[in-house]
Amino acid sequence: MDVNDIKTIGVAGCGLMGAGIVETCARAGYSVVVREINDGLLQKGLSRIKGSMAKGVEKGKLAQADMDAAMARIKGTLNMADFKDCDLVIEAAIENMQLKKTIFTELDSICRPDVILASNTSSLCVTEMAAATERPDKVFGLHFFNPVPVMPLLEIVRALLTSDETLEIGKALGEKLGKTVVVAKDRPGFIANLLFIPYALDTIRWLDSGLATKEEIDTAMKLGFNHPMGPLTLCDFVGLDTLLFIADAMYDEFKDPRYAAPPLLRRMVQAGLLGRKSGRGFYNYSK
Ligand code: CAA
Repeated sequence: MDVNDIKTIGVAGCGLMGAGIVETCARAGYSVVVREINDGLLQKGLSRIKGSMAKGVEKGKLAQADMDAAMARIKGTLNMADFKDCDLVIEAAIENMQLKKTIFTELDSICRPDVILASNTSSLCVTEMAAATERPDKVFGLHFFNPVPVMPLLEIVRALLTSDETLEIGKALGEKLGKTVVVAKDRPGFIANLLFIPYALDTIRWLDSGLATKEEIDTAMKLGFNHPMGPLTLCDFVGLDTLLFIADAMYDEFKDPRYAAPPLLRRMVQAGLLGRKSGRGFYNYSK
């Protein structure tokens, strides 16, 4: 298999990340098969893709004809068997290891033996997912960043048994998708979250201790370091449940207090304050 043999990409899951991955692949010229577990979620995901591309057109980043062509390359389905003609499949389901392993085992039985299977997980062990298949040399992590069509980074996670050939195809594919690729070992957090999560957790600890207001903390990091968002705004953007999940996975693995979630974060998640997605996190988005 060569990167140029990849014509059709499968995406398992059309939530926030899955939709962004579908859009990015379709805009790069790939045919895309995207699968969701029910029609409601599928239609929601497809509308999200359409809305995001329309924003690209509105902002002058994408011609209307290119949007129409990209939309026409996307096929939504509820059936895993529709991945059978895909040349590479990216799993973008919720962060649940048991579910991901089931998906990988199913993909392994549906897809041709030369097909690479990837996971967009942000913190779970890719080596464990690979072990659920008969092709662990053809499995890696492809970790995209939100919003996927805009963020230029792609982390490739090399699992313990990922082959050199698979890795090279991944790097070349990343470039074809217009991303800059970095390769990381299969450790929770990879590179970007390994460094971001302790920063986010420290910010929450300092907020809780009364160092400054949330606005002052965000302003300091935005204007002092030219970050597009302050850390608490970014936590809300990522989702506090996601942040907690990643922190817990990192703490589980490393047992290092740097990754221990502060009580305020856990309480906010327990109270349903998940950030933008729930309408309220550190900030209120209900309007
Ligand atoms: N297609 C193409 N381009 C698009 C687009 C689309 N659908 N939507 C927006 N854009 C472009 C815009 O035209 C704009 O480009 P210019 O700067 O050239 O004008 C740029 O993208 C920014 O878009 P907006 O003007 O709509 O929005 P903004 O300036 O307020 O920026 C943001 C929004 C990109 C989200 C910015 O705030 C940002 O970069 N925030 C940080 C995001 C971040 O850190 N993400 C990582 C989260 S962590 C993660 O994802 C991993 C994990 O595991 C948790």
